[in-house]
Amino acid sequence: MSSSVKHRALLCAGMVIAAGTFAYAAEPGPGYYGYGQRATPEQIAGWDIDARGEDGVGLPEGRGGVIRGSEVYAEQCAACHGTFGEGEGRFPKLVGGAGSLRHDRPELTVGSYWPFAPTLWDYINRAMPMAAPHTLSADDVYALTAYILNLNDIVPSEFVADRESLPKVKMPNRDNFLWTDPRPDTAAKPCMNACVDPASVKIVSTAEGKNLTPRTTGPLDTMLAK
Ligand code: HEC
Repeated sequence: MSSSVKHRALLCAGMVIAAGTFAYAAEPGPGYYGYGQRATPEQIAGWDIDARGEDGVGLPEGRGGVIRGSEVYAEQCAACHGTFGEGEGRFPKLVGGAGSLRHDRPELTVGSYWPFAPTLWDYINRAMPMAAPHTLSADDVYALTAYILNLNDIVPSEFVADRESLPKVKMPNRDNFLWTDPRPDTAAKPCMNACVDPASVKIVSTAEGKNLTPRTTGPLDTMLAK
């Protein structure tokens, strides 16, 4: 079992225990289906870690520069991504590919492809290093972001990444992304709330009675013994 798989298995076990512990707190109400529990603000905060690419909303306090980034990178990232982001073996390159996007074999990297610098912070923060995500401090994620941008010649070596500076970085491929969908049938505003009048919905078929899912109310053992 790789350590990331192990990590996930532990996480799942933790979630099951948490669900068991708090299940009694479920409150009947609209949208209540008889299971689960309301997430606490602390639980929501634990998952709500995204930083928005376009304007950096969600980036936390903290800062980090290129030199510190190069040190953390050498320790935690270079083994897979190469000393200068060139990629070891089949691990992805983080640098290069400028001007290659129209070629037969485009090289999509942070430098050649990504539209927003805050997304680099977000990605490293949520997913890297691959075997131990969520172990880096916010400062070190800022430092790594600064270093990888510098390796791509997007920022100078004295650049310091923080919640103010990152959204201002203009990524080379930024203007090649389209931000409006030109198809006429997508122009309407997406509906996020009370989009359909429940009275107008007519259920024409269900899986009930079609013997698709065997039904049992007995314990799992009885089910498996059958
Ligand atoms: C064990 C190998 C490994 C280590 C160590 C590692 N990465 Fe990665 N990294 C990967 C793999 C594999 C992917 C591709 C994941 C995918 O596409 O789902 C990736 C993807 C990335 C990407 C996105 C690349 C792209 O253009 O899509 C970035 C940025 C990145 N890693 C940064 C880092 C940083 C910073 C560190 C050090 C803190 C790090 N990685 C450590 C294996 C690693």
